[in-house]
Amino acid sequence: MIIAIDGPAASGKGTIARRLAAHFGLPHLDTGLIYRATARTVLDWGDRLDDIQRAVAAARGLALTDFDEERLRGAQMGEAASVVAAMPQVRAELIDLQKRFAARPGGAVLDGRDIGTVVCPQADVKIFVTASPEVRAQRRALELHGRGERTAYEDVLADIRRRDERDSHRSTAPLKQAADAVLLDTSDLDIEGAFAAARAIVEERRALAK
Ligand code: CDP
Repeated sequence: MIIAIDGPAASGKGTIARRLAAHFGLPHLDTGLIYRATARTVLDWGDRLDDIQRAVAAARGLALTDFDEERLRGAQMGEAASVVAAMPQVRAELIDLQKRFAARPGGAVLDGRDIGTVVCPQADVKIFVTASPEVRAQRRALELHGRGERTAYEDVLADIRRRDERDSHRSTAPLKQAADAVLLDTSDLDIEGAFAAARAIVEERRALAK
C-alpha cells in the first residue's frame, strides 16, 4: 500500500505521515528533507542558492541516508528548500530516488507537496492535509521555540504565506490537491484527532479496494 500525504507548511502532514507509517508498519519518507538537504549542501559549499548548476550537483550527490535532521529542520532551511525546489532541473534529479522508495515491497508512506500528483500518481491512498495559515503559523512558531529558535509569530506567518505562494505557483510540480485526494483540514484538530481522521480515510480506501 502506498500512502501519499501532501499539503502546505506546518499543516500537520509530517506528523500524520509518521503516525500512519508506524500504525500500518510501513517505511516513511519525508520528502521535504530531500529539498532541505539539497539547499543545505549548496550553502555549505559557499555557493548561491539560485545557482541552478550547483543545486543540481547537490541534488545529484544526495542519498537518503544523508539527513542530519537537526541541521535541516530550522526555519531558514525551509525557506531555502523552497528556492531550490522551484527549479525543474533539481526536481528532475530527485524524482527517481523518491519513486524507488515508494516502490519498496509492501509499500510506503511519503509526504511532501507533489506526492499524489507527480511522484506517486498511482498511490492507493492520497490525503491532502491543510489548515489555515494562522493555525499553521502558530504550530510552526511553537515548534521553532521548542528548537530554541525565537521567531516572532508575525515572521513565521509571513514565511508561511511566502512559501505557500512560491510552492503553489511554480511551473513544475506545484503544490495542489490531486483530483483523487481526500481533503483533511486540521485547523480544529489536535494531533490525535488529525491522526484518527487520516487513519479512517486510509481504512475506508482499503475497504473499497477489496
Ligand atoms: O515542514 P514544512 O512543510 O515547513 O517543510 P518541508 O515539507 O520540509 O518542505 C520544505 C520545502 O521543500 C517546501 O516549502 C517546498 O518548497 C519543498 N518541497 C517540495 O517542493 N516538494 C516536496 N515533495 C517536499 C518539499
